[in-house]
Formats: sequence, structure tokens, C-alpha cells
Amino acid sequence: MKNSHLIITIDGPAAAGKGTLSRRLAERYGLRHLDTGLTYRATAKALLDRGLPLDDEDLAVEVALNLDLSGLDRSVLAQHGVGEAASTVAVMPKVRRALVEAQRAFAKRPPGTVLDGRDIGTVVCPDARVKFYVTASPEIRAQRRYREIINQGGTAELPAILADLEKRDARDAGRADSPLRPADDAHMIDTSDQGIEEAFETAKSIIDAALAAD
Ligand code: C5P
Repeated sequence: MKNSHLIITIDGPAAAGKGTLSRRLAERYGLRHLDTGLTYRATAKALLDRGLPLDDEDLAVEVALNLDLSGLDRSVLAQHGVGEAASTVAVMPKVRRALVEAQRAFAKRPPGTVLDGRDIGTVVCPDARVKFYVTASPEIRAQRRYREIINQGGTAELPAILADLEKRDARDAGRADSPLRPADDAHMIDTSDQGIEEAFETAKSIIDAALAAD
């Protein structure tokens, strides 16, 4: 079994369940985890915090080159506005190049890494051992996001969340550089009508079969 330096990629649209699945798999296989969405969010937030424009590519690259990937915290970067700004910044090819390089360097460090994002199986780690594409219907994803916000004591409106998710999906899938799409060799997992536990078991059996075949 060639388990040394295992790289697992998980791509898919917002609120499909990638984050939870990635963390569970990283824990199960003793790997590091990188939520690459946070790298785009941190770049966008640094620009917003300094009152800088989001569409100045050179400025954004400078911020991206100075990110510390080990200190990214979703609780600080979770705000809706930061996600929107991240998907604007993520359209710029030079920003993507800077962040992709940092993500690859992180992925190479032992003992191996689970990375989740939009372009991991297609662009960042095309040679990864096992790739997944996790998705769910927009309505289900919007409901999950809605419940998350309400459970945290916030207020939200379901139709607005659905509209935002669809707008973000369209921007992520429609951009010219590294659009959101499944790698040809990705295993598809639809979480519309399965819980995280079921998705985890499905992913685990696919990984175990791949490792046993090595
Ligand atoms: O996954 P999350 O919602 O945190 O990602 C925020 C935004 O960052 C996404 O909407 C997408 O535009 C961008 N992103 C990306 N490539 C990745 C991860 C995230 O373009 N690998």
C-alpha cells in the first residue's frame, strides 16, 4: 500500500459539504487539510480591511504573495461579503497563479494533504491520487446555508441566499481561468439526499480501494 504522501482533492460549489467532508477525511487518514477558499477570502479581506480596490490585480497579487497559509481561520473570514469579494478577486489570473503556487507548496509537505476548493483536481493538483467532486442542488445548498446562519443566531432570507449562491456558482463556473468543473477522473458525490456520514463512507471506500490497488 503506497500511502506515503497521499493527496486527495475535493472540488465543488459553495455549501455542498466539501469542508466537513475534507476535515473528516484528513482526520481519518492522518493528513493535513487546506481549505483553499480561505486563501481567496484572506486576500479579499486584506484588501477590504485596508480600503483598497478589489479590481487592482497587482495590488491583490502583492497581498496574495504575503499570505501565511497556516494562519487562516474560517470564523474570521466567513462573512458573506468576504465570500463575494473572494469570488471577484478569484477571477484575476495573476492572483490565482500566486495562490495556486502557495497551495501546491502546502500540498507537497508530508505526510500528505486533503485540499478542497474549485480547481484543485483540474489545476492545482492534477496528479492527486483520489479526486472528488461534491455537489448538491442549489435549493438544498441554500437551505443548509440558511440553517447555519439561523443556528448561529443570525437573520437571513432563503430566496436571497439562493440567488446569491446561484450568482456565485455562475461566476465560479463561468470564469475563463480555472473555472469550477469536475476533473475528468473525479468521483462524483451528490449530497442532495445523503448526510455527511453517508458521503464520508462513500469517499472512504473509494480511497481505500485506490490505496489497496497501489
Ligand atoms: O469555498 P469558499 O466559498 O470559501 O470560496 C470563496 C470563493 O473563492 C469562491 O466563490 C471562489 O470564487 C474562490 N475559490 C476559487 N478557487 C478555489 C477556492 C475558492 O476560485 N480553489
